[in-house]
Amino acid sequence: MATIQLRTSVPGPKSKAFGERRAVSVPRGLSHATPVYVARAEGAVVEDVDGNRFIDFAGGIGCLNMGHRSPGVVNAIREQLDRFLHTCVQVTAYESYVRLAERLNALTPGKFPKKTMFVNSGAEAVENAVKIARAYTKKPGIIAFEDAFHGRTMMTLALTSKTHPYKAGFHPFPSEVYRIPYAYCYRCSYSLKYPSCDLFCARHLEDTFKRVVAQEGVAAVIAEPVLGEGGFVAPPLDYFRTLIEICHKHNVLFIADEVQTGFGRTGAMFASERYGIEPDIIVTAKSLGGGLPIAGITGRAEIMDAPGPGGLGGTFAGNPLSCAAAHAVLDMFEKEDLNSKANELGEHFQKRARVWQKRWPIIGEVRGLGAMQALELVQYPETREPAPDITKEVTQYCYEHGVITISAGTYGNIIRLLMPLVITADQMDEALDVLEGALKTASEKREVATQTV
Ligand SMILES: Cc1ncc(COP(=O)(O)O)c(C=O)c1O
Repeated sequence: MATIQLRTSVPGPKSKAFGERRAVSVPRGLSHATPVYVARAEGAVVEDVDGNRFIDFAGGIGCLNMGHRSPGVVNAIREQLDRFLHTCVQVTAYESYVRLAERLNALTPGKFPKKTMFVNSGAEAVENAVKIARAYTKKPGIIAFEDAFHGRTMMTLALTSKTHPYKAGFHPFPSEVYRIPYAYCYRCSYSLKYPSCDLFCARHLEDTFKRVVAQEGVAAVIAEPVLGEGGFVAPPLDYFRTLIEICHKHNVLFIADEVQTGFGRTGAMFASERYGIEPDIIVTAKSLGGGLPIAGITGRAEIMDAPGPGGLGGTFAGNPLSCAAAHAVLDMFEKEDLNSKANELGEHFQKRARVWQKRWPIIGEVRGLGAMQALELVQYPETREPAPDITKEVTQYCYEHGVITISAGTYGNIIRLLMPLVITADQMDEALDVLEGALKTASEKREVATQTV
């Protein structure tokens, strides 16, 4: 039986009315990818206030790898509700926080002693990773990447690359941030080709230390193992090992921002495992909380202990409800092989998408790692000119036909897949059928427009 159910044309009357109220009472800066107003959600399905059912390929932007209202998560939250809600871990602590730290220390790559602390959001975690790296190295500089996204607070905006809509108008940002090109092979900054490039972009870090900022002034390099908002770009598998070798040669730390890549998304618990690397600090968030806000900073024990007592923290940081939810998420990963499921979903998508790519030239690249898959849409494959307009048409078509998708990329021309990993095979195919229809319609429209010109 079909999962998608559209009882009204979308948006339905109730969603429309909420949208009108929102326009009056909520700032426009808080954008919305769809006009959906949610009534309930379960697994990979969202039902709106008008009774329309959508398959969710966004998962709250990658926060629901274990699905909406995962039963373990809901039960753990219920149990915690009956015991206590908030005490502030810096005042009266609770065992679940400590145990969660122990579990992340054990789960994250690296056999060395580690420590973990928790905060509320990905951006807050990145902020703390920077504080800790600076306190440990006693150096100020942070090197970030083109097309990176690390959050919306002032320091993380300094690290984030995309100007509109994230950075424009919000200057000045904190200083001592330097930017280098990422291994975005489809749009290589040096017009080289892998593997004959011999990872020029990674080796170029040596040059950065000579021509841009001396290593004596750099605390850390921060990178997403696969770009999230930047368009699901997965560098070659030997890229990060080369980059980290250069970092360590110069006493510079490597911070992996696994906020979007973590917890099964790339077919491993952490994308760092796919790359065979052991970052000095790993930042996690999103799916760690199974729908509740929590973020972790895990790192080598001696690095994490650099800030003195009172130097780290936050009132709600690692609150008991979120810790309980996070334990349930990790329990679920112990019981179910969600990593294999992620790889299966990714392979299935790639198989279908490669056929689409042969059929429709607007698909410039099909790429991804595990279930972190994307399509890069272009005006013409020869010029690789980004096609944000076509991307909008595709996401709109998907929404109108019962699939929630979101775009990404500096040029807004990437369709990314962030479906819950618990999606059923039938739901996945139903949603991919819709995506296929969207690409077909957009391609045909494009062909007509080209012929008319
Ligand atoms: C890689 C990455 N880092 C950091 C963040 C910021 O996380 P949050 O929105 O929870 O602050 C995001 C959010 O999308 C992200 O994808």
